[in-house]
Amino acid sequence: PATSQIRNFSIIAHIDHGKSTLADQFLLKTGTISARDYRAQLLDGMDLERERGITIQMHPVTIYHERNGVRYELNLIDTPGHVDFSYEVSRSMAACEGAVLLVDASQGVQAQTVANAYLAIENDLKIVPVLNKIDMPAARPDEMIAEMEQAVGIDGLDVLRCSAKTGMGVEDVLDAIVDRIPAPPGNIDAPLKALVFNSHFDSFKGVVVYIRVMDGTIKVGQKIRMMQGAREFTVTDVGQFRPSMVSCGTLSAGQVGYCMANIKNIEDVRIGDTLTDSVNPTDVALAGYKQPKPMVYSGLYPVNNNEFEALREALAKLKLNDSSFTFTPESSEGMGFGFRCGFLGLLHREIIQQRLERDCDLDLVQTAPNVTYELLLTNGETRIINNPQEVPDAGSIQEFREPFVKINFLLPSDNIGDIMSLCADRRGTYVKTEYLSPTRAVLIFEIPLSEVIFDLYDKLKSITRGYGTMDYEFMGYIPGDLVRLDVLVHHKRVDALSIIVHRSQAERRGRKLILKLKDEIDRHMFEVALQAAIGARVIARETIAAIRKNVTAKCYGGDITRKRKLWAKQAAGKKRMKQVGQVEIPQEAFMSVLETD
Ligand code: GTP
Repeated sequence: PATSQIRNFSIIAHIDHGKSTLADQFLLKTGTISARDYRAQLLDGMDLERERGITIQMHPVTIYHERNGVRYELNLIDTPGHVDFSYEVSRSMAACEGAVLLVDASQGVQAQTVANAYLAIENDLKIVPVLNKIDMPAARPDEMIAEMEQAVGIDGLDVLRCSAKTGMGVEDVLDAIVDRIPAPPGNIDAPLKALVFNSHFDSFKGVVVYIRVMDGTIKVGQKIRMMQGAREFTVTDVGQFRPSMVSCGTLSAGQVGYCMANIKNIEDVRIGDTLTDSVNPTDVALAGYKQPKPMVYSGLYPVNNNEFEALREALAKLKLNDSSFTFTPESSEGMGFGFRCGFLGLLHREIIQQRLERDCDLDLVQTAPNVTYELLLTNGETRIINNPQEVPDAGSIQEFREPFVKINFLLPSDNIGDIMSLCADRRGTYVKTEYLSPTRAVLIFEIPLSEVIFDLYDKLKSITRGYGTMDYEFMGYIPGDLVRLDVLVHHKRVDALSIIVHRSQAERRGRKLILKLKDEIDRHMFEVALQAAIGARVIARETIAAIRKNVTAKCYGGDITRKRKLWAKQAAGKKRMKQVGQVEIPQEAFMSVLETD
């Protein structure tokens, strides 16, 4: 089609505001899927996302919508709504000219919606504001439209109203996408220039590259070049997502789809790369993206040391479809051999662990997460560390720097005071407050990332009874008075339990940690000493008394089935134990360093 008959857009929405439901309605209303297939919900590719009820990223999809007798090709390119994956948002936006800003009519604007709407505006995307769930009795459309005006600066008169559930108003949204979002620019006759905005690995077909054609045409048989990767391939298939992959032979300027070119290794495809014709290449590559850097690290160890190779294979397989995840082998005195893994955030980490356990049937112990630190050493060297074990002697550190983020909360005004003191407790610096309405406000702080990743989100949810949301962006590394806090179990330092803390919090954290460990570690046949220390100085100490009786003793020997149950229970409980010296430490203990108050 001519570019004037194409529209490329994404949907910006907070989790649960109805993005998937609206996307499904688009498919249904445009006849892309039948009503019978509607419930199957084809867009959410990953089971795990299904189970958790959150969509990380949907596949792109091409639909056709008729408007004033003209058939338009609409391409929906998804943007993830969770803060961990915000880097993918700008990546999707580079392939679009517009975005539907979807807001739940009973919940209103949320922190990530605001952040992503700003990102869209910065990327020159045309915003189509839509209020969803207007069928709900709790919907308060007028108030929410006023909030949208205040928070994102849109004109209330432009806001469409729909129900993705009943289908009401959905046609109007499709019409508005055609009417308001500009047609893609681009010259069909220029040399091929296509943006690689995503890819996935298919074990039968090899690498599938998701592209948005900017100029020219791509077709089967063509020799193409990846401009950054400087590799050449011959195109074997070109197609569209409808929503499953359908070959169409060629894609031209403005269109979105996929191509395959016998690419065996996903590492050969860089997201953000420009794809061009080998014989008649374009001279300038597209701007590309920054590769997202993992912000949160933790150790991952097989419970059973001989599963190390199996774990390596499983990690390599996961990485095929998730380049933002990293892993390198490491060994720990207490834990044996494992991997240091880097994640975008805690949700990302949880998803990876679940995938590993589900797909690979490995029993894993994960150490507490930490952020990345930057050290300026006395010899002038700057070193990045992502593991507390790597912290050198205090004497060789000139400056210990930690990552700071600018965080914005969107919350009921009644909770401002509580969140302010929570952030102050966590070494945050107040920036400002802005009111969206008399009852809702945006609160901005600058705060160490380490104080955010543990449980700030949970705290926000409980203080605001679920009504508060947050979003943050990385600011840079800032020097702080930081120290490594070690834990000794039975006089042996458990390196996997070491954490980096601010000196002012070291004693409190140390004591809490030791108390928590005391609860988590079972009694042994001998007394187990627990100590927290900074260098050689012990700052907290507890003792786990020796065991007295066998756990089955209370069964009075009689009931064998009950005894079996108990044994089974013990065995199950043991699954996630790690032997450190003479002491067995359960998985939960490694997480106890997360408890902050
Ligand atoms: P993520 O997948 O987490 O990004 O959420 P989402 O934004 O895709 O939300 P989803 O489409 O899964 O919808 C969340 C919930 O809201 C589901 O239970 C939907 O059935 C419901 N829902 C979506 N749209 C409407 C609507 O217009 N009216 C009503 N009453 N419920 C809706």
